[in-house]
Amino acid sequence: MNFHVLTLFPEMIEDGFNTSITGRALQNGTITLDAVNIRDYSTNKHMRVDDYPYGGGAGMVMQAEPVHLAYQALQQKLGKERLRVIYLTPQGNVFSQPMAEELAKEEDLVFLCGHYEGIDERVLEMIVTDYVSIGDYVLTGGELPALVMMDAISRLVPQVLNNEVSAEFESFHDNLLEYPQYTRPEEYMGKRVPDILLSGHHAKIEQWRREQSLKRTLERRPELLDGNEALTKKDKEYLQKLRG
Ligand code: ADE
Repeated sequence: MNFHVLTLFPEMIEDGFNTSITGRALQNGTITLDAVNIRDYSTNKHMRVDDYPYGGGAGMVMQAEPVHLAYQALQQKLGKERLRVIYLTPQGNVFSQPMAEELAKEEDLVFLCGHYEGIDERVLEMIVTDYVSIGDYVLTGGELPALVMMDAISRLVPQVLNNEVSAEFESFHDNLLEYPQYTRPEEYMGKRVPDILLSGHHAKIEQWRREQSLKRTLERRPELLDGNEALTKKDKEYLQKLRG
């Protein structure tokens, strides 16, 4: 997986990604990251990349040309005419685990990060393939959303997680929330680990964990159960019992 980020703040992308699991994936070459400074493609003698909006209004708009030139340089470097270009914007489709899974299949992904009041619409029309939001709130720029997406996508790339199975058994496995986890000590401040987890009874532990996932999903994210095709007959019976 090769990530390319077009941004005015490349150090924010590099610093944010170069830690922990994603940092390790960069070190061992499983993932590459290329943070391109859009300002390097300014043709203005003051290296400006923004200007006043036509029609008036508050703030500045990022100009089309530096973004376009940065993109064309990337096309040249990769020898690819068509690239998947994700523009981070609150106006996009809301990012989700299925979207991460789909994007993880690509060899190269380009993230375009806007700042100020956005980017000139004309270059967006020319190069963007996907408009993506990370949720219904407004951030100051696209860098944090790009980092969020790259983190979620990275952990789906084979060999990024040490523990191969852990990408499967997690929140949103079967579109259910994860069961609770415990580690030593057996008792903390008078609260004991559930006995079943100490029993060594693997089938019963699996059953208990499934029920905890169902219970938690019903309590916290009931909409995830609607039309969920991963639910077995046994799951449905258990949910019926919980609903009373
Ligand atoms: N840029 C600003 N806010 C954003 C959001 N919520 N998602 C994606 N990009 C953004």
